[in-house]
Amino acid sequence: RTVFILNGPNLNLLGRREPATYGAETLDDIAGRCRRRADALGLEVDFRQTNAEGTLVDWIHEAGDKAFAAILNAGAYTHTSVAIHDAIRAVALPVIEVHLSNIHNRESFRHVSYIAPVARGIICGLGPVGYELALEALAGQQDNRAT
Ligand code: DQA
Repeated sequence: RTVFILNGPNLNLLGRREPATYGAETLDDIAGRCRRRADALGLEVDFRQTNAEGTLVDWIHEAGDKAFAAILNAGAYTHTSVAIHDAIRAVALPVIEVHLSNIHNRESFRHVSYIAPVARGIICGLGPVGYELALEALAGQQDNRAT
């Protein structure tokens, strides 16, 4: 069982990007955590990052064919992207929305998520461990397509 873990804009800069908000770990560190956790849970992960909105849309379509679920940190597109919302709806794939920071205790423009209405669940504010918790949640679910 494969889980796509998709990361959006600016997350390639983790580690040096606003460390007070996003912490010291790099995206490679987070990918390592996910691979180790997935191994322990008997899952496969396909971990990716892009700065392009359309690429995230393409990857969600691909996940609909190849994965049983996805974990998505869409970065700032979370707060703007009808296209990503529509893609998730179109493929009917369980998606867990993850954010490193607590988007609800930050600027008001981060309080709205276009992903949330089509997400299976949402984890935010817990840093990199949020990705691992999302994997734990997915591993415990039998038929993830039955929403
Ligand atoms: C983020 C929160 C978003 O508001 C922000 O634009 C990001 C990262 C997070 O992981 O906390 O790029 O998704």
